[in-house]
Amino acid sequence: MTMNHPPTHISDLQTPCLLVDIDKVKRNCSRMTQRYKELGVELRPHMKTHKTIEGADLMTNGTRKKIVVSTLAEAEFFASHGYDDIIYGKPVSESQLSRCKKLHEKCTQFHLMFDNEETISALERNPLGNKAWSVFLEVDIGGNRTGVLWDSDRVVELARLATNAKNVDFLGIYTHNPMSYSLTSDKAVRNQAETDTKRILSVCDRIRQAGFQVVTVGLGDTPCCSVSDVTMAKLTEVHPGNYIFYDTQQYRIGSCEFDDIAVRVAARVISHRPETNQIVLDSGFVALSHDGTYCNLPDGVAVFQDHSELKLVNMSQEHGCVSVKSGKIDCTAYPLGSMLFIYPYHACATAANHPVYYVHSGDSVIGVWKPVKGW
Ligand SMILES: Cc1ncc(COP(=O)(O)O)c(C=O)c1O
Repeated sequence: MTMNHPPTHISDLQTPCLLVDIDKVKRNCSRMTQRYKELGVELRPHMKTHKTIEGADLMTNGTRKKIVVSTLAEAEFFASHGYDDIIYGKPVSESQLSRCKKLHEKCTQFHLMFDNEETISALERNPLGNKAWSVFLEVDIGGNRTGVLWDSDRVVELARLATNAKNVDFLGIYTHNPMSYSLTSDKAVRNQAETDTKRILSVCDRIRQAGFQVVTVGLGDTPCCSVSDVTMAKLTEVHPGNYIFYDTQQYRIGSCEFDDIAVRVAARVISHRPETNQIVLDSGFVALSHDGTYCNLPDGVAVFQDHSELKLVNMSQEHGCVSVKSGKIDCTAYPLGSMLFIYPYHACATAANHPVYYVHSGDSVIGVWKPVKGW
């Protein structure tokens, strides 16, 4: 956590900027660590939400081991800071293998994901030397994104192919089901956690019955991992990521309390427009992200701290137009230059837009985290 001539108070910061409440982050991390310690399941946190060493150290409880990343840039960044046992959490393409070879040299364990035959052929064509490529089969249990469908015959075929391939170690199954993001109750999320776990365990059974070994079986998304159905104790690992920050989307799903949300965007009022019943902020979609606007939430995508009367009605690149949910806006209640604090809908999407995060305890800014960028 570095800071050159730090402002000491949030009110001194230039806006827009991303604020990270360190006390909430620590609480979110230790709660998740404790939950999976009690369940006897390894927690392999995903780094995509924050992409920082400081956040990773809190999520791994200082071990610097067992993480998932969403880009090779993240993998290289964490490996260069001594992180080991890293899964690149997207199907790898042959064009990336030269970077992956270097990551293998740097780490004792670096794992790839695959969901098709061609990737295994590409790994066979690109041997590592004295090591084998370590691979997870990505299985789709409902997200309809990447991964081989959990109930298809290709699951066993791909496991067979990877197990028998030259230069390849088949380690196990990885799945992430984003369908939990469409749920809106604790009970529904718990049911999904149970169904997902049963599905993924049935995939393992089929592979094992066909005579192949599955060492690791993991699933994870912040909603399911936050409610953690007891069936999840049968997994070997889970890999949620968003829980470090949470956000208003997670709050709506029921993954967290509102008080657990550890990130806010600080914005300043730059214009009063009583004739259009609006004030304007210096934060548009670059600072806040568009994520969630497609949900057409009745109160808008942004939640304003201490100002439940406000609604974000429109965003352009660097402007956020704000009105009141009903009646006439009293512009004098939001003086020009005053700060407003916005809880984001999707912390990962909002954080990805910020070059640095201002870390605070109470109103004191105590440091700056610098996320890795790019792919
Ligand atoms: C492959 C993969 N694993 C794990 C996660 C973590 O899930 P969450 O963001 O719900 O914590 C994600 C999130 O997008 C993901 O894409």
